[in-house]
Amino acid sequence: MPARHTSWAEPYKIKMVEPLTMTTREQRVQAMEEAGYNTFLLPSERVYIDLLTDSGTSAMSDRQWAGLMLGDEAYAGSRNYYHLEEAIQRHYGYKYIVPTHQGRGAENILSRILIKPGDIVPGNMYFTTTKLHQELAGGTFTDIIVDEAHDAQSTFPWKGNVDLAKLERVIAEHGAKKIPYVSIATTVNMAGGQPISLANLKALRELTKRHGIRIIHDMTRVAENAYMIQRMEEGQGHRSVAEIVLEICSLTDGATMSAKKDALVNIGGFMATNEWDVFEEARNMVVVYEGLHTYGGLAGRDMEAMAIGIAESVQDDHIRARVGQVFYLGNKLLEMGVPIVKPVGTHGVFLDAKAFLPHLPQTAFPAQALAAELYIDSGVRAMERGIVSAGRDKDTGDHCYPDLELVRLTIPRRVYTQAHMDVVAESVQRVYEQRERITGLRMTYEPKYLRFFQARFERL
Ligand code: F0G
Repeated sequence: MPARHTSWAEPYKIKMVEPLTMTTREQRVQAMEEAGYNTFLLPSERVYIDLLTDSGTSAMSDRQWAGLMLGDEAYAGSRNYYHLEEAIQRHYGYKYIVPTHQGRGAENILSRILIKPGDIVPGNMYFTTTKLHQELAGGTFTDIIVDEAHDAQSTFPWKGNVDLAKLERVIAEHGAKKIPYVSIATTVNMAGGQPISLANLKALRELTKRHGIRIIHDMTRVAENAYMIQRMEEGQGHRSVAEIVLEICSLTDGATMSAKKDALVNIGGFMATNEWDVFEEARNMVVVYEGLHTYGGLAGRDMEAMAIGIAESVQDDHIRARVGQVFYLGNKLLEMGVPIVKPVGTHGVFLDAKAFLPHLPQTAFPAQALAAELYIDSGVRAMERGIVSAGRDKDTGDHCYPDLELVRLTIPRRVYTQAHMDVVAESVQRVYEQRERITGLRMTYEPKYLRFFQARFERL
């Protein structure tokens, strides 16, 4: 047992550092203009603290770096593939796995296999790439998350929960045959990094079993969700995160994974299933879109780093420090009176742009404008999670208008220090104090798919 300490302090020390660029305000104003007020279009060299995403931005451990040297770059049957398969079976419990280059590669394959045109895919809130692949396969996403998830100020602890009555209504309306699976994310990114409870997942398993419907698990941040179950759910406090992760997975039939988050690698993902037929088809389809079924678009060394990262990701001390750092920033902002999504999420702190900038209508892209302002203030790069991310309605062509209009301060794993978190909080506070003079934006370029990545804006 490690020494018990009451803070969230990190269970590691720093062995190598990467110097950051410090910029002036004038440089940042110019960089933001050149980036069309989209933080995705900023060169990272112009960024001081990069909270754009927790995806692929983690620091790998010395063991993972050593694992890179053990890469077996055979086209077929690399030993690293077998290590990965073993790590997934051991820590997640799924039977069959297909590696992919990242999460959306797995979503593409799984959606093509399971969804028929006209199908309905209920889920605990949409995620951008997940929903797009469901739609490209001919399905329609239906939101069945609890109402509290759409309310930034609700302090309900399980905002990732499914509203079972909503699901019952979807089944009654369309029939179970039209529902290839229920899509469950742990944790729910777009709700602000909110967990689903084990009790809710068990009840969902019961319900779906009765109707013969699968549960497909977007397990991108499953260890973080398991940690929240350990921390908050009755009767779960004595269990290890690793044990809870295994139980979560056991309540589902298959999964897609972006290993760039929880699993502590810079690139990688996989699809998993307990059904032989689905596996056979996926193993065949992966050669079309990703690569042979024993590498799925990854180098052998990437699979080795992922296998090691998976084991590290479910360790109690690791996950406690990871989420602890996010809570540190969140609590600091709450103390400052800044409006953020409550409760604080596990992978980031989400600024409530509607409450932050009440003078801007949603069509003036308040979250996009706020993210730009924060960058200009301090070089902290955040990301819009609001109307731009929500895209357009596939039938009407109008914007989707999500209730949540958020700026995400996403914390990479094992990368930044407490002092960095202080800089971020101070900058958010400064921008908050000057919020009344922040103006809205107009979109000048809109890509067809996942527009938030490449859209351009100018000041109104
Ligand atoms: N599912 C969830 C819940 C995600 O957060 C992501 C990625 C994906 C699937 C897709 O995985 O990027 O490896 O293809 N989220 C990143 C983010 C992009 O910044 O939240 P991917």
